[in-house]
Amino acid sequence: MPRLLVTGGAGFIGSNFVRYWLEQHAGDRLVVLDALTYAGNLASLEAVKERSEFRFVHGNVCDTPLVEGLLREEAIDTIVHFAAESHVDRSIHGPDAFIETNVFGTHSMLKAARKIWLEERALAQHRFHHVSTDEVYGSLGPADPPFHEQTPYAPNSPYSASKAASDHLVRAYHHTYGLKVTISNCSNNYGPFHFPEKLIPLTIVNILQGRPLPIYGDGRNVRDWLHVRDHCRGIDLILAKGRAGEMYNIGGGSECENLSLVQRLCVAADEAFRGDPSLAIRYPDCPAARGEPASASIKFVPDRPGHDRRYAIDCAKIAREIGYRAHVSLDAGLLDTFGWYTEHSQWWRGVMDGSYRRWIETHYRDESLLRTGDRARS
Ligand code: NAD
Ligand code: TYD
Repeated sequence: MPRLLVTGGAGFIGSNFVRYWLEQHAGDRLVVLDALTYAGNLASLEAVKERSEFRFVHGNVCDTPLVEGLLREEAIDTIVHFAAESHVDRSIHGPDAFIETNVFGTHSMLKAARKIWLEERALAQHRFHHVSTDEVYGSLGPADPPFHEQTPYAPNSPYSASKAASDHLVRAYHHTYGLKVTISNCSNNYGPFHFPEKLIPLTIVNILQGRPLPIYGDGRNVRDWLHVRDHCRGIDLILAKGRAGEMYNIGGGSECENLSLVQRLCVAADEAFRGDPSLAIRYPDCPAARGEPASASIKFVPDRPGHDRRYAIDCAKIAREIGYRAHVSLDAGLLDTFGWYTEHSQWWRGVMDGSYRRWIETHYRDESLLRTGDRARS
């Protein structure tokens, strides 16, 4: 049975992966290593914290001796490396943490794996799976074909550049030292336990609190949306059937313009409030509680610098080689996600107070967003 080290397991995708893995592979040892930055929350691991297979270690992926000790002590044979700084806007305001965690941190993980698996234990069966992003490929025009695994890297933000650098290091450790690695490059994830700074959870919690819904630029930028559970299943398949040294794209088959996506969430909110009167009592500041359309709160704000226009993913390789296809449609996934946030306000209110709030206050260029938010909160 595999023994996993999951880095970044208290974050959005990592915590979903931990729950997914312990559901699907009960009995496998699973150790989480997480530094608990603003994006990491033990509240996201509540459901598994008592499982005997599970262990949480508070620590930094840059701490190579700590990682080496864990690989030794826990006899780890599989690393799933999620830990990263992950938000493009933060990378624009402060790139250093992205270079530190995404580049140096990934290199630290690779060094530890090489030392323990190849040099100390000569472990034939091992896997280092690196979780990356489609953003490494750059930006597409409206008529361009989707990214495939041979698309040249052309990262545009400090975030995507740091992920591209980490991908190259992972690839080099395979080519040079024979470390058995796989890399997945996936599109925008969404689903439960998503920190409310990214578009979908931010829109949902702002709808519920009667705050403005910020749309950057003209709102015509396109993203492909992947439900986090499909992503977890894709990684599981790669671990089981992927070939060492290979990259696999994982997509949701759901391209959508940002404005249209936000409008779909607004419609979901309006319908949910009409169908369930208890929502108006629990979320009295939501426009839908007064019978007003949530979309009236949409607010165009200045564009993100260097904003990539379109991402789209060609999943033919992972479909052909290991049988992956997305199961969750965007409509079903958005409804499910909206419903999750309405039922878990304690989680999102908890993760949003503190450092997130201070970051927003420092960096939002449009002061009116804050003023309205403050009014809605009081
Ligand atoms: P997240 O920001 O929600 O979580 C990151 C986690 O890593 C947090 O728990 C944080 O505490 C931890 N972490 C950060 N720095 C650390 C360090 N130095 N040492 C140990 N732990 C540290 O991120 P996410 O959205 O769950 O993304 C997970 C991975 O998936 C990242 O590698 C990201 O680049 C990639 N990815 C994300 C998306 C997406 O849409 N969210 C899309 C493509 C790829
Ligand atoms: P985001 O969720 O930050 O993911 P990424 O930048 O990694 O794609 O943003 C998704 C898209 O939504 C992106 O085109 C930027 C846009 N966006 C907004 O229009 N308003 C917002 O408040 C946020 C956070 C993002």
